[in-house]
This record gives sequence, C-alpha cells and structure tokens, in this order.
Amino acid sequence: MKKDNQIYFPENFFWGAATSSHQVEGNNHNDWSEWEKTNAERLVKEAKDNWQKWQQEKFPEMFDPQNYISGRVCDHYNRFAEDFGIAKFLGHNAHRFSIEWSRIEPEEGKFDDGEIEHYRQVLRVLKNSGLEPFVTLWHFSLPVWFSEKGGFKNKNSSEIFARYCGYVVEKLGGMAQFWITINEPEYYAQESYLTGMWPPQKKSRTSQLIVIHNLIRAHCRAYKVIKKLNQNAQVGIAKNNIYFEAYKDRLINRALKKFKDWWWNFYFLHQIRNCQDFIGLNHYFHNRIHYGFNKNEHRRTSDMGWELYPQAIYHVLVDLKRYQKPIYITENGLADAQDKKRGWFIFETLKNVSQAIEEGVDVRGYLHWSLMDNVELDKGFWPRFGLLEIDYKTLERKIRPSAKFYRDICMANGITEDILSKYKNLINV
Ligand code: BGC
Repeated sequence: MKKDNQIYFPENFFWGAATSSHQVEGNNHNDWSEWEKTNAERLVKEAKDNWQKWQQEKFPEMFDPQNYISGRVCDHYNRFAEDFGIAKFLGHNAHRFSIEWSRIEPEEGKFDDGEIEHYRQVLRVLKNSGLEPFVTLWHFSLPVWFSEKGGFKNKNSSEIFARYCGYVVEKLGGMAQFWITINEPEYYAQESYLTGMWPPQKKSRTSQLIVIHNLIRAHCRAYKVIKKLNQNAQVGIAKNNIYFEAYKDRLINRALKKFKDWWWNFYFLHQIRNCQDFIGLNHYFHNRIHYGFNKNEHRRTSDMGWELYPQAIYHVLVDLKRYQKPIYITENGLADAQDKKRGWFIFETLKNVSQAIEEGVDVRGYLHWSLMDNVELDKGFWPRFGLLEIDYKTLERKIRPSAKFYRDICMANGITEDILSKYKNLINV
C-alpha cells in the first residue's frame, strides 16, 4: 500500500532470508560433496573460459581448487543458534532453511534419529527467536545411495522421496507450518540432466524430461503424505520463474515468449496445481527475447554478470495470479561482494513487489537469498550472496550495510521516508 510516498506491506507479512543445507551447514556427505572433490580441478580450468577478465581479476579464488570444495562452509550446522540470533536482530520474522536428506537417511531406509533431533533443535531455536520456519525438504543435494540408484531418474524415486518426507514430517510436523518439498525442479533437471553442469552431469533431453516427470510425481506423493500426517501443514514448492519479455513486441518474439512461459514458468505448476497450498517463488532472471537471442541491456549486473532488473519480479508475480494461491517469495538476491548494489536492488525489488500487491497479487512474504555468504553450487565460494559476510578463515559473521537497511524495512513493515533518507547512499547508486 502506498501512502504519502511511503510503502507499506500487508499485516503479518513475512520478512527474512533463506539458506540451503549443503550451501551453509558444512561437512555434509552427499552427491555434491563427492562431486566437488572429483571436479574441482576441472572447474578451475573452466573458470578461464567462463568468466570475464574483470571477474577473474576481482575473484582470483576461482583459480584455486579449494574454492569448489564446500568443506565446513559456514559451519551453520553448529552455529545455527548464533545465526538465528543475528537474523532476529536484523528484524526478520521468518527463515527458510533446508533439511539435508543425506543426514536423515544416510543409508536406504535407515533413518537417523540423532539428526532429527538436530533439526528439532533448529526449529525450536527458530520458534524461540520469533522466526517462522519455511522448511525445504530437498534443495539439490542427494544421499549418495539414492544418486547411485539413478536419483530422480529412478522409476521408484517418487516413492523413495515421499517416504523420506513422511518420516521427517511425522517427527517434526508439529513444529512448522510451511513445507517446501522441492527446490527449483526445472532448474535442477536442466543443470543436472541437460547442460551437464551439475552432478550427475548428464546431457540428455530424454533424461531431463524423465526427471521432471518424476519430480512432479515425487511432489504430489509427498504432498499427500504430508497432508495426511498434518492437515494444517501448508505445502508447496520453490519455483524459479523468469520474466520472459518479447523484444519490441514482434510476433515471433511473442510466440517464443509464449512457449518459454509455458515450458519454464507454468508447466510444472500446472501439473501440480491440485497439490499445492501456496507458491514459493524464487526469482533471479529476466530474458528479453529477440529471435531466440537474449537482448537484455545489462545496465547493471551482479558479480556473476547476471543482469539486475528488479522490474522483472512485478511481471512474474502478476503472471502467478492465475493460480489463486498465496505467494511467498522464497528466494531473490544477488552476488555483490562489496555490497555496492544490494541496498538499491532490495529497494527496487520491494517497490515492484508492492506494486504487484496493489494490483491484487496475494504476496505474503519476502525471503532474501541469502542470510549469509555460502558455497554457490558449482561456482564455489567467490560469489557472495549474503546479508552477512562470512570470513571463511575465522568464520566470523559481519553484518553488511544493506542488511541494516533491510532490517529497518522489516521492522517498519514498509519503506518510510525516514528509512529512505537514512540510507540514501545505499539506494542512490
Ligand atoms: C538456488 C540457490 C542458489 C541461488 C543463487 C537458486 O537458484 O536455489 O541454491 O544459491 O539460486 O544462484
């Protein structure tokens, strides 16, 4: 809602940040931790071709094999209470994290109650800190035994996944209302089975399609299991949607946009439309289509060279209105080691979110990616997505200036004139 130039968000809006187990916990043993070890040298070699000169000069760590090995990362597994204390201090009232499947079910069908107890503590500390948990059950990393069985290509994968989800929710279901079964299914299927970037590095369109369909089944089965155990649970997925724009509104570009919207943004959501209570939106990209090429202007970019185009989220949100479900923004952020653009980006993004809300889109929360710097999947440590900066030698957490700006917004449940004048240096960049 806009009033006298100030922006207010709906009552009980969730404000916070997100993480994922493999990216912050440390010392996980899963398909990614294995893959990192055998692929670090290759990733170093490829960094020469993948990144521009300014990036190579600014982040020479990309040429060190250790950059790609997650190891103890942020040691969040042991320091979660400290981290949630900081999140609380930063005005957050919600937090998204993921449960590491490989810890809960280290061998097929054998569940580890000690690890359940760990996550019970995590949930307890979140509750005591006034942070509403958004629990992701699977965020890209798989138990080694499951990946050896073919992972989500296996025809029984949906049953195996639903059994794991059922076990977790049976034990912890009473402690959280919001459950996200799967993080970014189409992105996972693309990077792991089509482009060959992520483990298990397959390059096959057929495999990609099989995996997508198995993930649809896996979600729907898990949904039913979770709802049976806890009728009040709110269950959804975290869906990475892109704003596809037709350049100059040309017919061919419009046709391509339509196809891409259908395949990337809506196909999965349409298939699971009868088994989701909310939509979790992860949003990072804009793609201005011109005869199949990308015509983005890239006026501002992140450290990873991704275009920063905060208007995109408005379009993506308006397009999700068709499902008539509450929407929680479960990820949105940028790699910005020097914190030069994060304040501006958060401000511009939230203005666009607020515009969508004004136009009737039921957005109920914003969770920034990420609470802290972490290991960025196959890129390793150099991209810095955190509201908190991590010194990987000492593991000290430092609050970035933009996190304070965001704190004031969370606490005011809006963007007031006072906040704007206090942080004008962060916004006017
Ligand atoms: C993923 C995160 C990742 C972030 C930034 C999202 O697609 O869910 O795991 O770190 O993007 O690349």
